[in-house]
Amino acid sequence: MSGITDLTEGKYGHDDMEYEWAQQRQAEYILDELRCDPGDWLLDIGCGYGRILAAALERDLLPVGITVSQPQVEHCKKCNLHVHLMNYVDIASDWTNQFGGIVANGSLEHFVQVEEAAAGKSDEIYRKMFDICRTMISGPGKRFVTTAIHWRKKNQFDAAEIMRGPQAFKRGSPEYHCALLATKSFGGWYPYPGQLSECAKGKFRLVKDVDGTHDYHLTSEYWLRQMMKGVLLRPRIWFGLMARLLHDVRATKDMLRSTLIDQSWMWQFRGNPPPMILYRHTWEAY
Ligand SMILES: C[S@@+](CC[C@H](N)C(=O)[O-])C[C@H]1O[C@@H](n2cnc3c(N)ncnc32)[C@H](O)[C@@H]1O
Repeated sequence: MSGITDLTEGKYGHDDMEYEWAQQRQAEYILDELRCDPGDWLLDIGCGYGRILAAALERDLLPVGITVSQPQVEHCKKCNLHVHLMNYVDIASDWTNQFGGIVANGSLEHFVQVEEAAAGKSDEIYRKMFDICRTMISGPGKRFVTTAIHWRKKNQFDAAEIMRGPQAFKRGSPEYHCALLATKSFGGWYPYPGQLSECAKGKFRLVKDVDGTHDYHLTSEYWLRQMMKGVLLRPRIWFGLMARLLHDVRATKDMLRSTLIDQSWMWQFRGNPPPMILYRHTWEAY
């Protein structure tokens, strides 16, 4: 409603770089890292509103996106992008060995839910993710590029504790923000530094990792400013919010708390050091 269709960080050359330009640079960075050739099929797992797919078309690649969001599918289809409503765990075997490159740009943070982390299943889920991607990619040396928010350190939060929800913690504490994000709004559990490399063993080797945390800080503060402006000034947003509240009061309130009121989303990248790290990883298939 505030006009934002990018759901990951931009790549800023400097702090004053324009938002739109930083977003486009991030898409170009990911495509450069993939090293695909014109005519290669590219799979974008969690394609959102399709920025990477559109940039890939400009390079004469054949991009296919999957997402679990129907509105994103509809938006992408209107832009003539090739997108399916699909969970990556359900990718069919006829896509085996088809892709010259795979992207997961800000999606793998949603693959593990807090209940699964509490049950000790996160390694198993990431190992399966790498298995699926290795099966889809067309051969050794081909690349899988991920961007993902990580915990700053292993065991930073106890998933079983966080499952109790934000009301179990002091408002504004790290546990409160974490529980609001993981259980009430964005949904998902992050990997810790090094966890993905462990889970990729035998399938992909890590060839590059870049810390993009400051980029995510700049991006999420821009999102906050845009949302604040929209909420204060645009009647279209008042009516939109009203409709959302009528549809699902609790979800809408939780989303407003975690973005505009308690700003848990922005909290993740504030401070020195910030509580979370954003890693851009380039993986090469064995
Ligand atoms: C934070 S958004 C990132 C979107 C996009 N890559 C971008 O940069 O704007 C997360 C995306 O992952 C998708 N997603 C989450 N879980 C998924 C799953 N299990 N299978 C496929 N897509 C998934 C969501 O539908 C959404 O498109």
